[in-house]
Amino acid sequence: MNVKIFVTGGTGTLGSHTVPLLRAAGYDLRILSRSPRAGAEGVEYVTGDLLAGEGLDEALAGIETVLHMAGAPKGDDVATRNLVQAAARAGVRHIIYISVIGADKVPVGWLRMKAAAEQAVEESGVPYTILRAAQFHDLTLKAVRAMAKLPVVPNPGGLRFQPVDTRDVAARLVELVAAPPAGLVPDIAGPEVIAMGDLVRSYVKAAGKHRVLMPVRIPGKAGKAYRAGDNLTLDGALVGPGTWTDFLAAHVG
Ligand SMILES: NC(=O)c1ccc[n+]([C@@H]2O[C@H](COP(=O)([O-])OP(=O)(O)OC[C@H]3O[C@@H](n4cnc5c(N)ncnc54)[C@H](OP(=O)(O)O)[C@@H]3O)[C@@H](O)[C@H]2O)c1
Repeated sequence: MNVKIFVTGGTGTLGSHTVPLLRAAGYDLRILSRSPRAGAEGVEYVTGDLLAGEGLDEALAGIETVLHMAGAPKGDDVATRNLVQAAARAGVRHIIYISVIGADKVPVGWLRMKAAAEQAVEESGVPYTILRAAQFHDLTLKAVRAMAKLPVVPNPGGLRFQPVDTRDVAARLVELVAAPPAGLVPDIAGPEVIAMGDLVRSYVKAAGKHRVLMPVRIPGKAGKAYRAGDNLTLDGALVGPGTWTDFLAAHVG
């Protein structure tokens, strides 16, 4: 196997959609995971931890392209810096990084962390492509499911999302792997802008539940940014076709 593509996050939600598409496109893959895993045809796993930064030089030997999808609630900036420094040492020719819409605008901790991770990629000296995506349907469902466990569900006024089908993001990443480095490319978002309250209501209805929503206000600069739609890309986004309604119908009820 002559592997040229190194994949992080290949075992996660986005990765579970992206890896089969990359395989179908004919790529042999080396996938990083913190746990040992058995390989499969065209796929070898290497064990390592981006936060610890260990084992990356060996894992990146002979690699031309890195698709970086690993992410966690904390430490993506440090993990990404470790990865891109190793990629630069290994002479990698292209890093593709998946980030989040609003990373550069919404002043909350995890988006600041994604912005710092983007900066690490930009400063690495390795030619790169960064794709910012809206919230994946999978994550949106997880969030509204958790919220609907409460007897009264908080409904932050003015908070809207453009949930996107994870499969559409995966397909876009495969296109970007095949293309030359392009810097920051147009964001990818879903076809609808949906208020938080309506996301919860649609889930509750599909699940056959009843919940009361209670209006709340997100305080401070973060609240102002969300109410201004800084977490959205209303113009110029690439629109993934998969709707929230279709996703809900397939996964709930
Ligand atoms: N979810 C969304 O709505 C959304 C929207 C836009 C962008 N994104 C970005 O898309 C990416 C993928 O998200 P996801 O929802 O697919 O994530 P996920 O399901 O939580 O998966 C996380 C992945 O990251 C890997 N990982 C985490 N910490 C690691 C570490 N220290 N070292 C090596 N690997 C590590 C995990 O691998 P192992 O567990 O096998 O080690 C796993 O494959 C993230 O960067 C996220 O910020 C997500």
